[in-house]
Amino acid sequence: MTKVGIIVGSIREGSFSGLWAKQIAELYPADVEVTFVEIANLPLYNQDYDANSPAEYTEFRNTVAAQDAFVFVTPEHNRSVPAALKNALDVASRPWGESVWGGKPALIASQSISGLSGFGANHHLRQSLAFLDMPTVQQPELYLANSQDVFDESGEFKSEDTKAFLKTAVDAHVNLINKLA
Ligand SMILES: Cc1cc2nc3c(=O)[nH]c(=O)nc-3n(C[C@H](O)[C@H](O)[C@H](O)COP(=O)(O)O)c2cc1C
Repeated sequence: MTKVGIIVGSIREGSFSGLWAKQIAELYPADVEVTFVEIANLPLYNQDYDANSPAEYTEFRNTVAAQDAFVFVTPEHNRSVPAALKNALDVASRPWGESVWGGKPALIASQSISGLSGFGANHHLRQSLAFLDMPTVQQPELYLANSQDVFDESGEFKSEDTKAFLKTAVDAHVNLINKLA
């Protein structure tokens, strides 16, 4: 069973990123176990903690290590990656030499409530994942626009076309995972 972790870059209740992530999670095949990995409870990364890490860091690092691959679904904050998501990347990348991200194939989806679709966050995240040695799906790119218009009241897509497009990215992610396994 392949294990795919999903990290949502927004920690607010009712997040559009969370709605997108829920839909993406449902598109993985039955032999993939999808786990939502929480980042909201992580104290701000501090290198002083490397010698004696908070319990939240240890639990998060263990959960990340247990996954085979990752999906990141994120908004953009001031043209970059939200602080909570960057913090999570930093926490599981340390202590030096003990990063648990390496080698895990990633899929990035960015979204916004405008036409910009989180392009800045998407590419800043791509830069960090390159350094963290995470092979990342290149195509299709998931720039998800106008999130406030995409979902109905129950959080389902208004258009089936949206799901079909996301499925092409999930398929590309699964192919990458299988190729590298
Ligand atoms: C601190 C902050 C900074 C933001 N910066 C941007 C931005 O740079 N580009 C953008 O398109 N939207 C920006 N937004 C608007 C977000 O796209 C919008 O709030 C979106 O709903 C956030 O995703 P979420 O619903 O998953 O929390 C910003 C929102 C916040 C709270």
